[in-house]
Amino acid sequence: MRIIHVDSYDQLSALAADIIAAQVILKPDCLLGLATGSSPLGTYANLVERCSQGRLDFSQVRTVNLDEYCGLTADNDQSYRYFMDTNLFNKVNIDKANTHLPDGSAPDMQAECVRYEALVESLGWPDLQLLGIGHNGHIGFNEPAPDFPAQVHTVQLAESTIKANSRLFEKIEDVPTMAVTMGIGTIMKARKVLLIAGADKAEIVEKACRGPVTPEVPASILQLHPDATVILSGK
Ligand code: GLP
Repeated sequence: MRIIHVDSYDQLSALAADIIAAQVILKPDCLLGLATGSSPLGTYANLVERCSQGRLDFSQVRTVNLDEYCGLTADNDQSYRYFMDTNLFNKVNIDKANTHLPDGSAPDMQAECVRYEALVESLGWPDLQLLGIGHNGHIGFNEPAPDFPAQVHTVQLAESTIKANSRLFEKIEDVPTMAVTMGIGTIMKARKVLLIAGADKAEIVEKACRGPVTPEVPASILQLHPDATVILSGK
């Protein structure tokens, strides 16, 4: 595991964008695994800027996102599809048909999990998977649990996750309690993994990177990934 300490969130965002841009330049039709949350906002803004300056070309890029809330349609402004459209996809020259998220509003969620795992596999697994981390060590929506879930699955969100994510909703009752997420096995199949974390995550990042590998700290599995980079910002 490569751990890179930077001073600020701006530096974190610029460096993460450098790594993603390098991937796109080296393999223009790469499959990017993408994440939502506050952490990647600066990274996406950097990528948008490079694209609008003509320094980066998303025309052949394909993407798969980690997760989605259950029960929200794509046009709901709290859905991760909406987040990705407004923060990245609508602002770069990507073909929307090449952007994929689990469908949180699918009538049969079990069938949706099978479909999404098969989709990620058929696209060849991500060349680079971007990750944030929850304060409890979750990646995607893989919450602390007795086992590492292998494949795309639905999950009951932890109380602490609902509380943390409620800052983005009008009231806590509006936060969906279920989500659909890539499994730990799905994430580990990415050829490269890039985890970004702000200063408020320093403690959990330390546990994940240097503590025991345990499903109680889902991100700790990344210690076993052959090409994982963590960028942690100091403030
Ligand atoms: C959510 C997402 C995760 C994300 C985490 C941290 O629960 N499902 O993929 O990494 O929150 O989010 P933030 O970056 O906003 O702290």
